[in-house]
Amino acid sequence: MPLILWATGVNAQQQPLPAPIAADARTTVKAFVGQMKPLLVSQVQALGPAGAIEVCATEAPALSKSLTETSGWSITRVSDKPRNERRAIPDEWEASVLRDFEQRLHDGAQAPQLNHGEVIDGEYRYMQAQLVGGVCLLCHGENIADDVRSALNARYPHDRATGYTPGQLRGAISLRRPVSDR
Ligand code: HEC
Repeated sequence: MPLILWATGVNAQQQPLPAPIAADARTTVKAFVGQMKPLLVSQVQALGPAGAIEVCATEAPALSKSLTETSGWSITRVSDKPRNERRAIPDEWEASVLRDFEQRLHDGAQAPQLNHGEVIDGEYRYMQAQLVGGVCLLCHGENIADDVRSALNARYPHDRATGYTPGQLRGAISLRRPVSDR
């Protein structure tokens, strides 16, 4: 489908997402967070934070994969301070959206408003910010328990995702799918 359909004359390569596509992206993000968060909380309660690291390391990517199969969106999590250096490093577009989220957060935007979608280079792309809440601090905060710290060090020797305080931008869920899908 030619991108020119959404062109406004400013930049034919970069256009807002069509409303139904944006709605679909939001639904997919909701499904991801809606399944991930309760699982994380229950595993932290059952196993403690060190035990629950496994949930973030294997369940989140597994959930991304199964949601990709049902939704058609490819789903990753990215951050400007990545923990997983293999899959969480933002590309140029994601890095610029993260900077924009950071600015909007600074200017007083609330978490649900911190999303952005675009048609760019033949793809639909969408990002939703994830902010640091109470439970996140156990593994991303300033005072991390020793057993959690050493479990994280063992798995992520280049971990940059600690030292956060509540309300900060932890990263984003990033969705993409080819325009030719539809
Ligand atoms: C039990 C420990 C733990 C808790 C609690 C936790 N995380 Fe994480 N988080 C991790 C681990 C481990 C990874 C790396 C996962 C991987 O290997 O892909 C991670 C990765 C992420 C990523 C992907 C980007 C990156 O840096 O790799 C985001 C975004 C994220 N966490 C957000 C959050 C948010 C928001 C919360 C609170 C709702 C939270 N996390 C709570 C352990 C945790």
